[in-house]
Amino acid sequence: MPSTTDLVPAPRAVDAPARRVVPLTADTTLWAAPGTGTTERWLRAVLGPALGLPLRPGPEDARDAVRLRLDRALGPEEYRLRAVAGRGVEIVGGGAAGVFWGAQTLRQLLGPEAFRRAPVRPGARYGIPHQVIEDAPRFGWRGLLLDVARHFMPKDGVLRYLDLMAAHKLNVLHFHLTDDQGWRIEIKRHPRLTEVGSWRARTKIGHRASPLWEDKPHGGYYTQDDIREIVAYAAERHITVVPEIDVPGHSQAAIAAYPELGNTDVVDTTALTVWDTWGINPNVLAPTDTTLRFYEGVFEEVLELFPSRFVHVGGDECPKDQWRISPTAQARIRELGLGDEDGLQAWFTGHFGRWLAARGRRLIGWDEILEGGLAEGAAVSSWRGYAGGIAAARAGHDVVMCPEQQVYLDHRQDAGPDEPVPIGYVRTLEDVYRFEPVPPQLTPEEARHVLGAQANLWTEVMEDPARVDYQAFPRLAAFAEVAWSDLPAPAERDFADFERRMTAHYRRLDALGVAYRPPTGPLPWQKRPGVLGRPIDGTPPDR
Ligand code: ACM
Repeated sequence: MPSTTDLVPAPRAVDAPARRVVPLTADTTLWAAPGTGTTERWLRAVLGPALGLPLRPGPEDARDAVRLRLDRALGPEEYRLRAVAGRGVEIVGGGAAGVFWGAQTLRQLLGPEAFRRAPVRPGARYGIPHQVIEDAPRFGWRGLLLDVARHFMPKDGVLRYLDLMAAHKLNVLHFHLTDDQGWRIEIKRHPRLTEVGSWRARTKIGHRASPLWEDKPHGGYYTQDDIREIVAYAAERHITVVPEIDVPGHSQAAIAAYPELGNTDVVDTTALTVWDTWGINPNVLAPTDTTLRFYEGVFEEVLELFPSRFVHVGGDECPKDQWRISPTAQARIRELGLGDEDGLQAWFTGHFGRWLAARGRRLIGWDEILEGGLAEGAAVSSWRGYAGGIAAARAGHDVVMCPEQQVYLDHRQDAGPDEPVPIGYVRTLEDVYRFEPVPPQLTPEEARHVLGAQANLWTEVMEDPARVDYQAFPRLAAFAEVAWSDLPAPAERDFADFERRMTAHYRRLDALGVAYRPPTGPLPWQKRPGVLGRPIDGTPPDR
């Protein structure tokens, strides 16, 4: 029987006074209070096929039933799971999301078979040990960035990642939809964004210094119906999808599709193609009215598709070289009194901040958007360490902490020679477990601006879903515990206990078919001998 103490992420409090068990059988009924429909549907859809538990509707007072309720005295994502022998299992949430997270705990308590899609032990008996679990998240933003631009992830893979996120109580998918190497979302009024921008002729294999190429086209995009399906699937799992349209840098795919978006007075943008290698790209958007109107059109369609309050506008790694020599950009700086190119980027970002605010949304961007001054209400994803996040919180801006030194999951997870295409820092499972989203420099007042934390999966060296799994897991489980559980200070965290719980969690990941990195290192087919990564040579890694 799986034990309550195997849960990942760890719950706040568990009281398990007796060894009695609430049996769950084909006759167990489910009663769901109004407002708990997402969990009702999810339990039937998941536990029905996995364990042969159809959970037919039944009366509230049925013996050994599963009951879902709301209690507004609890926080919106808080839940209490009570298994009482003779009565049943009751999940009470402060809101629909709390009930859903309680159901994720229930699934873990049922053992690894609950993570499959058909029974592997027909006739097996399942039950929940008599206990009370009280649980609530530490942070409201428990995010995962998925970069589907560098390598496209077909829609089914995205839906699978939403399931994996839900199983770890993560609730924000930061969907990185556009970059130099690909544009992945259909925009009806600008069809060339996907006709031209969604594929490239070839792809660099490994780090950009690698001499190897994959000489076949790579591409793909989500239609607007695909996006609606992804957003609705996420919403059923209490996950918000935050779209990212990266401007004014990381835009070569868009410029390849519509050359007038680039700095045409500096480069022949008609000669640009969707980029086939990695790194920081000099071809950035021109700061013209044409560009603003074009992207307002893009964002209008994006807002129709994504109900998220936050909309991410990128803003990272925008080299200013073309703007420095562009008469058009320089004229705009003078005309608007912007001072310099940083001021020009701030003006560009500020335009979309106001545009989004006028439509009831909030802008979020990478920490570079702080550099020329940031509009009130805008929020920051702090990726270049903690400094941007600290500055933003002190200036009264909300922050999501995703420092590359800690939670960039494309970075190698071991210093050994067998890691596939090793890039970035060495960040082990234990390192991620000891990641602290709130820097000690912040006062309690400032720390309230830390909305939460996010792990980022950039996919330059992850060409297929198995590679994504390898980089994400098991570290995403450690990250989920950091974002959800009330852990002590990093040095005091009980990593040995986490590892012990991970032995049970690996069985769940096995049942889910996750191609994680085993604790003993990559399996033979997870290695990529001969593909250049980035050696550890003491210089700051640049991925
Ligand atoms: C980033 O990693 N350039 C946000």
